[in-house]
Amino acid sequence: MSKRAFITGITGQDGSYLAEFLLGKGYDVYGLVRRTSNNPMIRFKEPGKLEKIKIIYGNMRDSASIERALEISKPDEIYNLAAQSDVGISFQCPEEASEVNYYGVGRLVNEAMRVCPQARIYQASTSEMFGRTNPPQNEGSLFQPVSPYGRAKLKAHEDYVTGYRNKHGLFICSGILFNHESPRRGEHFVTRKITISLAKIKHGLQERFQLGNLDAKRDWGFAKDYVEAMWRMLQEDKPDDFVIATGEMHTVREFAEEAAKFFGMDIEWGGGGLEEKGIDRKTKKVVIEVNPAHLRPNEVDFLQGDSSKAERVFGWKHKTAFKDLVRLMAEHDLEHVKREKLL
Ligand code: NAP
Ligand code: GDD
Repeated sequence: MSKRAFITGITGQDGSYLAEFLLGKGYDVYGLVRRTSNNPMIRFKEPGKLEKIKIIYGNMRDSASIERALEISKPDEIYNLAAQSDVGISFQCPEEASEVNYYGVGRLVNEAMRVCPQARIYQASTSEMFGRTNPPQNEGSLFQPVSPYGRAKLKAHEDYVTGYRNKHGLFICSGILFNHESPRRGEHFVTRKITISLAKIKHGLQERFQLGNLDAKRDWGFAKDYVEAMWRMLQEDKPDDFVIATGEMHTVREFAEEAAKFFGMDIEWGGGGLEEKGIDRKTKKVVIEVNPAHLRPNEVDFLQGDSSKAERVFGWKHKTAFKDLVRLMAEHDLEHVKREKLL
């Protein structure tokens, strides 16, 4: 009989890749979908996969809907990916971060303990929980979050992952994932914002775009590599927590330079602070400006993960290098903008 997986956040970047991955492994896949004004399933790209997903309407803010979804799906494995996942926005809407990213996890695990206590649970934790801790960060590093998003995720990790594992013997794992990107990444996140903006410039649809902190360093991997790690964690004999990362760190500035090369631009930086500009040496035109509106009240300066535990325990290692990730996103957006004639 096929295994059954229940995914919250199935409409997001990771949810869409994970659902396709699990369908490929023969799972029956159920997904919690909240009502939105536009087509929520827009990210599903692999032919023949979307029709196989069983959609259950619900919301992480609504225990009754979670209970119903678990009763319908009767899952062997639960992947909790639903979140208000934008760190910058969490400063503006802190209650939503806490409601969905902390209380929502509590609703899910408490309902799971009643309805399907044997189910194994994956919780989408995050490198943002390390906050101010110096890199490289691993499972033993100090958590010092600086954002409402990071604090809510850390509280969920402590109360419902390590807490419920110790208190109730629940099979629950935290995947402490570092930034991972793809052509399906939301357009507000910096990598996708850069590739889509440069593609629009290339097609003559805009002249320049604006970023915030150019010096932030992140460990960027490819989302498709990372969803496999989520699944691998749940196949182990014992529940545990794992850092998933590439081990490489780059600045936002470097990501922009690398992406610009793909579009035939050669960025040099002039000015400093809020006056800094990225100028294409070839055309002498300003392509990137700094806008203080994109700076955060508190910033995580460096993230660089050490995922040697995941490699040792279940043989996971990232497959996609930084330059290949940038290229595949840029390639996608060059075509995407042309096709959609986005403005
Ligand atoms: P994403 O693309 O923003 O997807 C978030 C998902 O959560 C969407 O499906 C969204 O549904 C759903 N959601 C939000 N609020 C909800 C609610 N109240 N009820 C039900 N569903 C709700 O995020 P992602 O990049 O795939 O990330 C997946 C998870 O991993 C998140 O928990 C994120 O915090 C965590 N994470 C991500 C990264 C990364 O670099 N991508 C790194 C570490 C951890 P709608 O489509 O309706 O908005
Ligand atoms: N979004 C955004 N927009 N970020 C910018 C911009 C901009 O215009 N300019 C500079 N940045 C900087 C941010 O300040 C941050 O330091 C870095 O680029 C990355 O920002 P995001 O792409 O928004 O990602 P994030 O690191 O804050 O959060 C992502 O990764 C976390 C894991 O570390 C999200 O996917 C989270 O959900 C995830 O947990």
